[in-house]
Amino acid sequence: EFVPLEMHKVRVVQKLNLLPVEERVKSIEGAGCNTFLLQNKDVFLDMLTDSGTNAMSDQQVAAMSVADDAYAGSASYEKLYNTIVDILGTEYFLPVHQGRAAEHIISQAFVTKDGVVPMNFHFTTTKAHIEYAGGSIDELFTDEALKIKSNHPFKGNMDIDKLKAKIATVGKENVPYVRMEAGTNLIGGQPFSIANMREVREVCDTNDLLIVLDISLIAENIYFIKTREEEFKDADIKTIIRAMCDLADVIYFSGRKVSCTRGGGIATKSKEHYLRMRDMVPLFEGFLTYGGMSVREIEAMAVGLQEILDMNMISQSPQFIKYLVDDLDAAGIPVVTPAGGLGAHLDAKQFLPHVPQLEYSAGALAVALYIISGIRGMERGTISMDRDADGNDVASEVELLRLAMPRRVFTLSQVKYVADRVKWLYKNRDLVGGLEFYDEPKVLRFFVGRLKPN
Ligand code: F0G
Repeated sequence: EFVPLEMHKVRVVQKLNLLPVEERVKSIEGAGCNTFLLQNKDVFLDMLTDSGTNAMSDQQVAAMSVADDAYAGSASYEKLYNTIVDILGTEYFLPVHQGRAAEHIISQAFVTKDGVVPMNFHFTTTKAHIEYAGGSIDELFTDEALKIKSNHPFKGNMDIDKLKAKIATVGKENVPYVRMEAGTNLIGGQPFSIANMREVREVCDTNDLLIVLDISLIAENIYFIKTREEEFKDADIKTIIRAMCDLADVIYFSGRKVSCTRGGGIATKSKEHYLRMRDMVPLFEGFLTYGGMSVREIEAMAVGLQEILDMNMISQSPQFIKYLVDDLDAAGIPVVTPAGGLGAHLDAKQFLPHVPQLEYSAGALAVALYIISGIRGMERGTISMDRDADGNDVASEVELLRLAMPRRVFTLSQVKYVADRVKWLYKNRDLVGGLEFYDEPKVLRFFVGRLKPN
């Protein structure tokens, strides 16, 4: 049996509460059956997201205390800039307040009206920003991507034939750029290979197209390249990061994931692309040397980016996720395999076959798991899709409950508790029924929409 080992020790702790089950029922009712609306004090293990909830290292906290406060020209920014140049190999950098702010700026700069952005898979805020800028997305994943049970090492790969065909049909002049997402979030934190990205690059070169690369989940994608892609098994982490980033024209990230902090950024080698985006930073984010981040976050980000060069750091979250996924899989529970890099993803369609997708089975599973355990997961299914232009609900391609694994936060016994509770719920799944909206926002409804049992 594979057992992960914590390669760090705990020196600052936060006390947890485990409410009695009756209070958890009241709490989730008050939250409109939406785990985003729960109060964190009512949550035992917060597996909503790995975004901004990661443990920081002692080195990061130390750096925060020497941050150089300045509106303009802060030495902390200089440190971050040098780190970006060193690790990503780009020349220009634009700081932003978080990942979606980068998506906003990139979409406003590059997406044309009615332009189509091909990608390996969408992320919620990515899609929303591309559509907000007047374009649309097209997901060109491989046949393997949406299979729940798989042993494919790179489910995040782009289907190259589909990419060529798509460019031919819509015309390259209608493709603002091609987007690749490292550690493809919504299909279960699944990686793409460097071999695949090289092929994407070739197609883009032939058609004179840009590649925009989302590296919010790069640490885990790199871990999987090192452990699964033969060519890179002896390569050091920086070499692999460079191999990936060199293939992109514009790179962006959410610092909430990749550096265990807050904030985000856009990096590029091209002065032309940089200038196309630059003026939006002071307009929407803040001056060019902070972009909406505090100098303390900037210091911690610089250190956090350095730390992803350490295999003992980036292997932690994939190994704890693998432990949980393998344990659930062995118990016959429908969970996305192979284990990815963000969390464990339960397949609600198979977990709750008696709840129709349009009654939001993944949302219902999130509510049930919270009630029986105090664990907060995140619905990544039909609730996370917005309605189409005619107001119809759109059944999501995959109907998942995500149990995110914040980096270096939970111990192995906490992970075992999660496995135990999910197994109990699977045995008692007939208790779970569907949901319906009673308060439904038009855009990104999953964040604040409210539902009730139907
Ligand atoms: N891109 C990817 C791949 C992401 O996973 C996220 C955020 C973003 C962009 C947007 O970044 O939140 O800093 O604005 N993912 C979080 C999650 C929210 O929970 O998966 P942000």
